[in-house]
Amino acid sequence: MVTYRSPREWERMRDAGRVVARILASVRDVAEPGVPLAELDAVAARVLKEHGATSPFLHYKPSWAPVPYPANICVSVNDVVVHGIPGTGLLKDGDLVTVDAGARVGGYCGDAAISFMVGTADAGGLRLIEVTKGALERGIAAAVPGNRIGDVAAAIEGAARAAGFGIADGSGGHGIGTEMHEDPSVPNKGRAGRGMRIKEGLTIAIEPLVTESGRDATRVLDDGWAVATVDGGRAAHFEHSIAVTGDGPMILTAL
Ligand code: MF3
Ligand code: CO
Repeated sequence: MVTYRSPREWERMRDAGRVVARILASVRDVAEPGVPLAELDAVAARVLKEHGATSPFLHYKPSWAPVPYPANICVSVNDVVVHGIPGTGLLKDGDLVTVDAGARVGGYCGDAAISFMVGTADAGGLRLIEVTKGALERGIAAAVPGNRIGDVAAAIEGAARAAGFGIADGSGGHGIGTEMHEDPSVPNKGRAGRGMRIKEGLTIAIEPLVTESGRDATRVLDDGWAVATVDGGRAAHFEHSIAVTGDGPMILTAL
């Protein structure tokens, strides 16, 4: 069931979204070669606490997951596409890192992600990051009243494929509001003109997951959560939560 939300609710989601943006900025700030992934999670926990917020990721257990999610944020490195658990590893020079963060404030949720290079950046990694960010921008621009969910999907997929990159199988965004994951699902690939009509009040997270090799196949790692490319190539991920307003898409997870 899709819930359409009022401008008043957009403002409450904006409060949650601002905390998400602060988490991402703070984590990015400390992300350097040699830093433990667990330290990144600790930084996120501190920001959440400072704002009286909680993580909708922590202890989250969708039906497909074998165990509840054990951390506050996801940290997905290199060939890990999404849902990397910040466990025992250290960041190393040249890593392509995605941080995905959520916050629940006063009953409303925000969800966003950024990718960046740690230490020495290679041109290929930077291009993958820029194209993925551009795919998110194109997807957001398509989220206007009168369009359909397939227009968002086609915009994202078109941006990735035009650059020779792939879109991770099964990946996509989702409705967001009082729960982190609500209807509708917002696939990262599909055909323009298809799917549910987009109306004012729709609040969704849009999140392209783009692969450098151009191949889309993924597999779930042994921890039951992390999703990696099958071919070992890198992936990047950007996400914003947005509200569809009469004046166009409003980004809820900006600072
Ligand atoms: N942005 C991610 C998603 O919507 C956040 C997942 S949180 C986790 O899938 F708890 F599932 F890891
Ligand atoms: Co999400």
